[in-house]
Amino acid sequence: MPRKSKIKEKTDEELEVKKSKVKFPQLLRGMKDILPSEQKYWDFIYSKVFKIAQDYGFEKIDTPILEETSLFVRSVGKETDIVEKEMFSFVDKGGENISLRPELTAPIARAYIEHGMVNLPQPIKLFYWGPMFRHERPQAGRYRQAHQFGFEILGSLHPVLDTQLILLTSILYEELGVDFTIQINNLGCPNCRPDYIQLLRDYYSTRKRFLCNNCKKRFQSNPLRLLDCKEGGCRELANQAPQIVDHLCEDCRGHFVKVLEYLDEAEVSYNLNPRVVRGLDYYTRTTFEIWTSEIRDHQTELGGGGRYDNLIKELGGRPTPALGFAGGIERIISRIKEKEIFIPEKEKPDVFLAQLGESARKKSLRLLENLRKEGIRVTESLSQDGLKNQLFLASKLGIRFTLILGQKEIIDKTILLRDMEDGSQEIIDFRKIGEEIKKRLVKKSKKFIEEEDKIEEKK
Ligand code: HAM
Repeated sequence: MPRKSKIKEKTDEELEVKKSKVKFPQLLRGMKDILPSEQKYWDFIYSKVFKIAQDYGFEKIDTPILEETSLFVRSVGKETDIVEKEMFSFVDKGGENISLRPELTAPIARAYIEHGMVNLPQPIKLFYWGPMFRHERPQAGRYRQAHQFGFEILGSLHPVLDTQLILLTSILYEELGVDFTIQINNLGCPNCRPDYIQLLRDYYSTRKRFLCNNCKKRFQSNPLRLLDCKEGGCRELANQAPQIVDHLCEDCRGHFVKVLEYLDEAEVSYNLNPRVVRGLDYYTRTTFEIWTSEIRDHQTELGGGGRYDNLIKELGGRPTPALGFAGGIERIISRIKEKEIFIPEKEKPDVFLAQLGESARKKSLRLLENLRKEGIRVTESLSQDGLKNQLFLASKLGIRFTLILGQKEIIDKTILLRDMEDGSQEIIDFRKIGEEIKKRLVKKSKKFIEEEDKIEEKK
């Protein structure tokens, strides 16, 4: 029943203050309730994701929230922030090491192998929508339970698919109405990347003292990540660092050139950005991110993805090149709100059913069901008694017609139909309620179309 919700979402700051004062069980840090008033944003984004997925031939997949910890250690990478610091991992009652999924690509690669999808016609195109968990320091745009939608294409190395994925992503963000830019890079492959990493180490080894503490640690474990540090000093160093696109092997360069050619052909605008190195180890070749057009901080990234041609093989499957993308739903919603993008409200019910007295309440239960079966959108407030209260609610909900059922109407086998706009009331035969309402709804929509046409003519 689409009533306007009075439950207001508390800001993260308000929740923190409340937490320090009260003692009853509280929402965990970095987690969020999605209240009724918020649902329209989620429905809006889901409808757009679903439509694009259908148009481009992606089928939906859902994987469990819990997976073996080793799945993420072997895919996302042992030395990444996600695996090293952010996983919700524990030993279950059966002694197994399991984790709440910190992302959804590795579970999908696992499912691809486990269900023998390699034997189906390739490529396999899958899409998903669901929560993921990272124990990050909570701050604006960074949650411990966040939600992603994503698209994965498994079983093809063709560069046209990289372009198609970037294209459909950009169409989706355009349809969502958010401002964005596409940032593209290429991370090479196991043939060319090690030499580049060595070059990067050589470059940073004489400049280590200018790095932030975090990057000093990353210098050994994950030098690529030095390039996307947001600290001022590290940023300046990254700007002067050797760029991987100048050190790609022939195959990777050829692939990259093709992707860019197709992108130009499809008239997709993008920025080549050597800093798009991603925080997960499984990437090869094309990587890309969707940024808000105002570059600010961690909230900038509205989504990211790329190729992971070796992941399925590394997890024990047959060599299967693949690529994908995931968007951050909370971040998109926050951008939609900031930009005050119009989200259509759910359609209002056609009729409100008000009942007076216990017999009418009993009769209403079936009547509601019969109206619903006739395709009439009806709402009620069965637990209320007074007519005044119920009419007040109906007008607050902006519903055009109210049906009023009382003791007298039950005896007469009638019902009252009240037009909430002009207050007029008619007595209707109880057996013809559906028919009569539908007639009036058609009249109402015809009148509405005529009025709209008149406004158009005036223009
Ligand atoms: P990711 O860049 O880690 O990639 O996450 C994708 C998006 O999820 C980010 O761009 C961001 O918008 C959102 N996000 C990530 N962490 C948080 C958080 N703590 N709070 C709120 N939003 C967040 C992946 O997860 C890859 N699996 C993407 C992919 C799919 N690559 C290939 N296929």
